[in-house]
Amino acid sequence: REPIVIDTDPGQDDAVALLLAFASADRLDLRAITTVAGNVPVAQTTANALRIRDLARRGDVPVHSGAEGPLVVALETAEFVCGPDGLAGAGLPAPTSEAAPGHAVQGIIEICRAAPDASITLCPLGPLTNLALAFRLAPDILPKVRRIVLMGGAIGLGNITPAAEFNAYVDPHALAVVFGCGRPIVMFGLGVTLQAIASHEQIARIGALGNAAGKAVHGMLTRPRPGGLGSDGHPMHDPCVVAWLLWPELFEGRDCFVAVETGEGPLRGRTTIDWNGRLRRESNAHVVAAVKARELFERMIERLATLP
Ligand code: BDR
Ligand code: CA
Repeated sequence: REPIVIDTDPGQDDAVALLLAFASADRLDLRAITTVAGNVPVAQTTANALRIRDLARRGDVPVHSGAEGPLVVALETAEFVCGPDGLAGAGLPAPTSEAAPGHAVQGIIEICRAAPDASITLCPLGPLTNLALAFRLAPDILPKVRRIVLMGGAIGLGNITPAAEFNAYVDPHALAVVFGCGRPIVMFGLGVTLQAIASHEQIARIGALGNAAGKAVHGMLTRPRPGGLGSDGHPMHDPCVVAWLLWPELFEGRDCFVAVETGEGPLRGRTTIDWNGRLRRESNAHVVAAVKARELFERMIERLATLP
């Protein structure tokens, strides 16, 4: 079982990623969920992580609340996509429990410090603020990190701006720290996550599973969404990260050098992917670019069926 920490800003697609991880305890040892401001403010992303944990009846996994905003720039949230509470369509009650004591950054540091070298997989699904703070505060944890498998950035067009994907845009400085950290990185940008779209038939089957998790996922995937975000369907960005840990054979990518634009202006948060090695720089990430989406959702449905 691979020890992982999921750092997240739920968000509907974050919620599905968490449920997939909960449904995969045979393969993934989820040591903690750490929350960050992103889709909605951090008090709400923390409440949402707790609501999802309740749904999966997994009170054994600690949730630590994290950064209230990006390293340098002001926080921008995405209620216009996710709804006022970040989980529109899920139909979930308020959380029954509270977050664990200790800041998310401290949680990440403690989990890493207690682990053997190159053993912990960090899975950031939101802005990279917590990870960047942890690496700056405690660089001694870097050797403990096996790999960072993240959702962020884009090979081509952005979604929140023409140039930038949301997680990269919200905290570009943090993403730049992570890309410069020297540990192995697997990047899931919009190039691949916009291919991970469940069909109507698959979404209907999730709703018909008969469990509470399936009902919540169905509600989230069928809620009305604003147009103009780069896709006609309902892309499952963040679940790609967890799915890759389980089924890497469904994905294809390439080792590349990735640069992050941190300046203000229209390119803020742009990730430049040196796909063809023109810059002759050493690669700092494995950039995933393709997924067998139909097969991914077939396997995901099987897993979601095992939840309460
Ligand atoms: C990313 O932004 C968030 O809204 C989603 O949860 C995902 O992590 C996609 O750009
Ligand atoms: Ca997210």
